[in-house]
Amino acid sequence: MLIVKEVYKSFDALMALKAINLRVEENSITGLIGPNGSGKTTLFNVLSGFYSKDAGQIFFKEERIDGLPPHEIAKKGILRTFQITVVPKRMTVLENMLLAPFGQVGEKAWRVFLTPGAIRRQEEENIKKALRILDDLGLENLKDEYSGNLSGGQQKLLSLGRALMADPEVILLDEPTAGVNPTLTRKLLGFLRELRERGRTLVIVEHDMNVISSLCDIVYVLNNGEVIAVGSPEEIQRDKRVIEAYLGGRKDAHS
Ligand SMILES: Nc1ncnc2c1ncn2[C@@H]1O[C@H](COP(=O)(O)OP(=O)(O)OP(=O)(O)O)[C@@H](O)[C@H]1O
Ligand SMILES: [Mg+2]
Repeated sequence: MLIVKEVYKSFDALMALKAINLRVEENSITGLIGPNGSGKTTLFNVLSGFYSKDAGQIFFKEERIDGLPPHEIAKKGILRTFQITVVPKRMTVLENMLLAPFGQVGEKAWRVFLTPGAIRRQEEENIKKALRILDDLGLENLKDEYSGNLSGGQQKLLSLGRALMADPEVILLDEPTAGVNPTLTRKLLGFLRELRERGRTLVIVEHDMNVISSLCDIVYVLNNGEVIAVGSPEEIQRDKRVIEAYLGGRKDAHS
């Protein structure tokens, strides 16, 4: 579904991505792990069009997407969340959800063809959809709260909720459980599995190996901008190069 071929990205003298090859199968959860600074977020930035790559190709459903701006890539069905969440803080949670860009009959280009009633019905549908997603994420009772009053973890969930409003086919999640409490994390993991069951494709950057093991069909390990291992969660945890490079002998590194 998503294929990355020999992608390179440098920042001045620093090669953040070196000959990255990656295959994301439809309807799967692909994990992306690696030490701090190994290039995980940079890869997401390149995949989502926020950064341009220096070399290589990216295909989504056999179509080249590298070089497209972020909104074009989003329109094709690939959405991402951010490691550091930015949500408009002076808006309520529900308003934030409705702010999300998504294909709908209420969009400007269509408005001229529609009666006010049709637009209102669409907006009612969007509100229903937003409330359903907020409920899935455990945020429904905060719908009228200012987003700025949410905890970091809750803002993270809200940004995932906003991405989901667009019904993306592929969702790139950058550390979705960081700062989310254990109870909510469990709920979130269940929800991410449910998204896979509903046919979505997920790519997830995560430091928590328990999360990776319980969620991912396949895991890519990055180190210094290179893919050093690919395999099932069990396989990569046994891989000597991964243990050396990523776990670095730290006993607590897997938890
Ligand atoms: N916009 C930028 N300008 C310059 N250097 C950058 C930029 N973005 C990332 N880098 C550098 O590229 C390297 C990879 O960073 P990246 O954010 O992709 O790592 P990461 O694997 O996501 O790390 P973390 O686990 O800490 O989030 C780092 O050395 C980082 O400093
Ligand atoms: Mg990162």
